[in-house]
Amino acid sequence: MKNKSNFIHLNGLYWENKAEEIEQFILNNTLSFKEVKIRKVGTTGPKHRIIEGDNLGGLHLLQQNKEKFDLIYIDPPYNTGNKDFKYTDAYFNAEDESRHSTWSSFMYKRLQKAKALLSANGVIFLAIDDLEQARLKLICDGIFGEQNFVANFIRKNKAGSGHDSKQVAVEFDYMLCYANNINTLVFNQEIVDVENDKKYKHQDKLVKKRGKYYLRDLDYKGSYSKTLDYEITAPDGSTLQSGGKIGKPNTWRWGKEKFDWGVENDYIVFKETPKGWKVYIKQYQFVDNKDQVRVRKLPHRALIDFNNSKGSNELKDILKQGIFSYPKPVDLLQFVIDLIPNNNCKILDFFAGSGTSLHATMLQNKKDGGKRSCTLITNNENKICEEVTYARNKAAIEGYETRKGKQVEGLKENQLQYFKVVVKK
Ligand SMILES: C[S@@+](CC[C@H](N)C(=O)[O-])C[C@H]1O[C@@H](n2cnc3c(N)ncnc32)[C@H](O)[C@@H]1O
Repeated sequence: MKNKSNFIHLNGLYWENKAEEIEQFILNNTLSFKEVKIRKVGTTGPKHRIIEGDNLGGLHLLQQNKEKFDLIYIDPPYNTGNKDFKYTDAYFNAEDESRHSTWSSFMYKRLQKAKALLSANGVIFLAIDDLEQARLKLICDGIFGEQNFVANFIRKNKAGSGHDSKQVAVEFDYMLCYANNINTLVFNQEIVDVENDKKYKHQDKLVKKRGKYYLRDLDYKGSYSKTLDYEITAPDGSTLQSGGKIGKPNTWRWGKEKFDWGVENDYIVFKETPKGWKVYIKQYQFVDNKDQVRVRKLPHRALIDFNNSKGSNELKDILKQGIFSYPKPVDLLQFVIDLIPNNNCKILDFFAGSGTSLHATMLQNKKDGGKRSCTLITNNENKICEEVTYARNKAAIEGYETRKGKQVEGLKENQLQYFKVVVKK
């Protein structure tokens, strides 16, 4: 990165460095966290924090305190020109030509600090939409390293917007994901729903233990190996060879010993067809090809579906009013949290808004017995931090009644503290 006079050059991007008042404030003062003690909630369980203030100051202090986080999730202003991004106390409108460089400058400074706060195996997720996705991707490539790019999740976030659209109905936004070190990153995988998978359509007397099955051809054209090329005796005594003859290119999928085991253990099916005998392996739902119970898992897809309207309803159910626009749905955040195998991990969200990340952390802990802790940083513009972020999560811990009068039990095993970033006296 070159920082020539007032321009920043990073990874092919070149933009004007826009100074922020908060930068001078951090330089000129010694900052500290001051707890607002009357806002403490809960007495047992993981300790969560809400930090009220500009996130540059909050991140600076966390870095000074040498804190590390395993998972950082952020949902920054998308820079829509629709009163979502403020610079020196003024909102940008869509016509302002400098709004992209100002936004890049704003994000760059915060992401540099985020990088320093990631633990060795840490990972960061960044919500964004089409307006800044391309710029954010390049900034992140520069800060976290192109090689550490994990995925650009594409999230279907709404439905039925066709009538309001011009050329194309865009019902998606994104979530960029980078690891601190791609070589050590491990994600939980998705459990494959074999129970409802229609391709398992046959059953035999072992259905209770093994589940249903489908048939896979034992004859196979892959990389050739002599040990997989042998004669099999069909039920009528005739001999069969893979591909109709010994020799390349066909082999059987299983070696002779494994095939004999399969016959003995009811894994092999012979079928007589007009073209002669065919041999199949039974692929069962609940056991592998060694008769061991298996849970089938696959990496998660980058195409995800978590609707924004769900997030708005969840928040309205707690606060009884729509005072915060576009909170993310908790299940999106639970999905992100559940990708991380460590269920005692430390989570940070420094554009916390309504505090969905903390709510999701507590719900996920309840679901799997984890002890994750979550730190939120968000400013108190329009009293959001006090009246939305804090109020929502306090209610989540203490319990609340939905708009329809349903009692939601509190997530009692959690502690929440509220801090402000102040000048140390
Ligand atoms: C898009 S919202 C995040 C919504 C959140 N994911 C949720 O589910 O509620 C971004 C939030 O970051 C706050 N914010 C913007 N700039 C900030 C800054 N420099 N420091 C702290 N918070 C900031 C905004 O006020 C807003 O509440």
